[in-house]
Amino acid sequence: MNNQPISTIFSEIRKLKKEKEAVILSHYYMPPELQILEKDGGVADFIGDSLGLSVEAIKVQAPNIIFCGVSFMAETAKILNPDKNVLIPDKEAGCSLASSITGADIRHLKARYPGVPVIAYVNTFAETKAECDICCTSRNAVAIAKSFESDTLIFVPDVYMGQNLKAKIESETGKKMILWHGSCEVHEQFSSASLGTMKQMYPDAEMLLHWEVPKDTVDESLHDHKGVLGSTNDILKYVGSSASKQFILASECDLGATLRGMYPDREFITPCFKCPYMKKINMANTLAALKSIGTEQQANYEISLPSEILKRAFTPIKRMLDFV
Ligand code: 13P
Ligand code: SF4
Repeated sequence: MNNQPISTIFSEIRKLKKEKEAVILSHYYMPPELQILEKDGGVADFIGDSLGLSVEAIKVQAPNIIFCGVSFMAETAKILNPDKNVLIPDKEAGCSLASSITGADIRHLKARYPGVPVIAYVNTFAETKAECDICCTSRNAVAIAKSFESDTLIFVPDVYMGQNLKAKIESETGKKMILWHGSCEVHEQFSSASLGTMKQMYPDAEMLLHWEVPKDTVDESLHDHKGVLGSTNDILKYVGSSASKQFILASECDLGATLRGMYPDREFITPCFKCPYMKKINMANTLAALKSIGTEQQANYEISLPSEILKRAFTPIKRMLDFV
C-alpha cells in the first residue's frame, strides 16, 4: 500500500465506493489528501465542519457512510441515521474535549443546578449528549444560547470556548453561564507567546481564531490586529469577505489545506498544531474500512451504540439542527 502511487489508491477507493454503495464524509481537519472531493479527483463526497457533516449525514441515500473524522462525529452521524452502517477508519480517533465529561457528570450538574438548561458542545460522546437539553457546534452556539429564556445556562465541556461565549452572551443578554473544565488539546496551545512572534513578523496579517482558543490569547490577538473569532465556517467565510492578503490561522493546521484551496491568492501562516485524533484517519485505513463492508471485519470499523442512547441522544442533536 505504502509503495502504491496515491492516484492508484484514489482510484481503488472510488471503485470500491460504487461497489459497496458507500459515501465518504470528511472533516476539514483531515489530512489534505482526504480533503479533495471526488469531482476534483479525490475521494470525498462531502467536506465540512462538524455541523455541515451532521446536516449532510441526514441527506445520505447510500446504506453505508465512511466517516473521516473523529468518533464523536461518527456517532452523531449514526444517531441521525440509525438504519445505516456508519464506519470510522480508526475507532481510536477520540477527542480530549469529548473525554473530559461523561453522562454521570451531566446528571450531577443537573442535580446541583435544578432546572438550568444544559447546552453540550457537539464534541461530546453519545452517552453525554443523551443527558443534555440541546447540542451546539462552534457555528450555532451563540444563537442557541440566546434562544433560552432561562437567565442561567450550563455550557459543557470546553472551558475556553465557554469563556469566549460567556463574554458575548453575558454582555448581550445578561444571562449567566456555568462552565465545565474541558479543553481541546490542539486549540489550547495557541498562547499569546506562540502567536506573538508571528504578529510581529506579519503586522498587517488578520487573525483567524477558533472559539476553542484561550480567551486571553483571543483578547490579546484582537486587541492590535483585525480578524475574527468564530467557528471553522466563520473563519472560511471571513477570509472571503476580507481584503487582506495575509492571515494568521489559530486553528488546526490542516484547515490550512482547505483555506489555500479556496483562496489561492492569500497567504495563511500558522503555528502548525495538528489534532492527533484526526490524524489517526488516513488513506490506508479509509480503504480498509471500505473493504470491510459486508465482511466479518466490518464490526472493527462500525459505530454501534445501545438503542436507548441512540434514541435519547437524537433529541438534543435534532434540536441543534433547527439552528442551521
Ligand atoms: P467544528 O465545529 O469547527 O468543525 O469543530 C471541530 C473541532 O473539532 C474543533 O476543534
Ligand atoms: Fe477534539 Fe480538539 Fe481534536 Fe477537535 S481538534 S477533535 S476538539 S482534540
